[in-house]
Amino acid sequence: MLDPSADQIRDWSNSVIELMAGYLGDLRDRRVYRHMSSREIRDALDSALPTKGIDFDGLLKVFRDTIIPFSRQNAHPRMFGYVQSPGTPLAAFADLLASVLNANLTVWRSAPAPVELERLTIDWIRQILGFNAGAGGLFVSGGSIANFAAIAAARQAKDYLSGRLRIYASSETHFSIAKAAALLGIGRENVRLVAVDERFRMRLDDLVAKITADLEAGYVPFCVVANAGTVNTGAVDPLAEIREVANRFQLWMHVDGSYGAFAVLAKSARKLFTGIDQADSIALDPHKWLYLPVDVGCVIYREPGIARAAFAHEAEYTRIISEEADEAFAFWDYGPELSRRFRALKVWMLLKGVGLDRLGEAIESNLACARHLESMVRGSDDFEMVAPVELSIFCFRHVPVQLKNESPEAIDAFNERLLVALQRDGSSYLSNATLAGRFALRGCVLNYRTTLRDMEILLDDLRRVARSLPTST
Ligand SMILES: Cc1ncc(COP(=O)(O)O)c(C=O)c1O
Repeated sequence: MLDPSADQIRDWSNSVIELMAGYLGDLRDRRVYRHMSSREIRDALDSALPTKGIDFDGLLKVFRDTIIPFSRQNAHPRMFGYVQSPGTPLAAFADLLASVLNANLTVWRSAPAPVELERLTIDWIRQILGFNAGAGGLFVSGGSIANFAAIAAARQAKDYLSGRLRIYASSETHFSIAKAAALLGIGRENVRLVAVDERFRMRLDDLVAKITADLEAGYVPFCVVANAGTVNTGAVDPLAEIREVANRFQLWMHVDGSYGAFAVLAKSARKLFTGIDQADSIALDPHKWLYLPVDVGCVIYREPGIARAAFAHEAEYTRIISEEADEAFAFWDYGPELSRRFRALKVWMLLKGVGLDRLGEAIESNLACARHLESMVRGSDDFEMVAPVELSIFCFRHVPVQLKNESPEAIDAFNERLLVALQRDGSSYLSNATLAGRFALRGCVLNYRTTLRDMEILLDDLRRVARSLPTST
């Protein structure tokens, strides 16, 4: 098992490919989710410490009979929860090949061609965003670490020992920003939450007021985080205007585009991102709206030299001896990780194999699905929108006729029960958001398999499941 022959490898791969093709072939007919307990899964797994191994078929059987059925089917076209990509077979093969080569992308000499491929792919992403030619960055595990790396660089750009630092971000900002501030010693309490407008976008008047008040109180404002697609509603903050404020107060402008930034590839959304190319840094996740399997996030810095000042670390065991500048390149100088998997392969295979035109079409179709849902909800008398659709996220609630005159709390409680019942039903899957104190059903279309018809099925599923629920507890 440890060192299979070429024939054994062929045998194994035939079984795996058969399983993969079968799984993806009938995905639409599966339930997205089923109710399950931790105990049920543990009971199904052989927990004995394995002193002797078993054969490959035995391992695959556990995957097929236990792991698949006791998983949420994230590639299902009606998996609308959170910000979940479906993955794609091309990337599954890329992940396999990356593990076969087992390249470790620390420095150029450790993995020359993989490092060049990452630099090339990062440069394509830079071009997609319209950043200046000198900008650069790297792949990381996801948006949270990309945000962390960017805030570390932002701090480096300021004389950060001169006083208590402050970051500004809208109240809709993902929690990874506060977490980064905590981990970097800036402190969660120094992330100032800026108020949002009726479309959940950062309010510039409140941003300026907060910065001004902090300056007067002796704090050191150093960074503003703008959202290019908030996690709750998909709101895109006014990027060009935030850049102006950042310039006025000499702040680093970071854009969290983890969910939304790849929507620049869709013509109908492009205008929302005006000014994105002027950011000092951006986080964006190929494992979200480029449909790739986890884990691959990305951070791009306008001036990579500043990130280098934040991350570079000299140690004798990593000293690069007698190399030219290009070949002395080290990713560890630009981010928090040392050993790094060959994440670039799946991004490269996707961009090169599928092409930007087709990816733009797929994103456009996701946007159309969310807009279709919004127009059906607005045209119905038993659903209502809780936030406008900006990208592919939709927040709404079910208000059947018998609940029309009930209190907002009763409608919240009903929708909470409805969400749990929908998830257990398994035909469609939503998650939730709290917006202006009200509970919302929340969905995000992030799958090239999802069609307009799936959005209609979602509403039918909700009506069907709601009929089986009592309207009050
Ligand atoms: C806007 C935003 N930022 C950051 C993140 C964190 O990304 P990750 O889960 O890849 O760490 C998310 C995750 O959904 C997100 O939506």
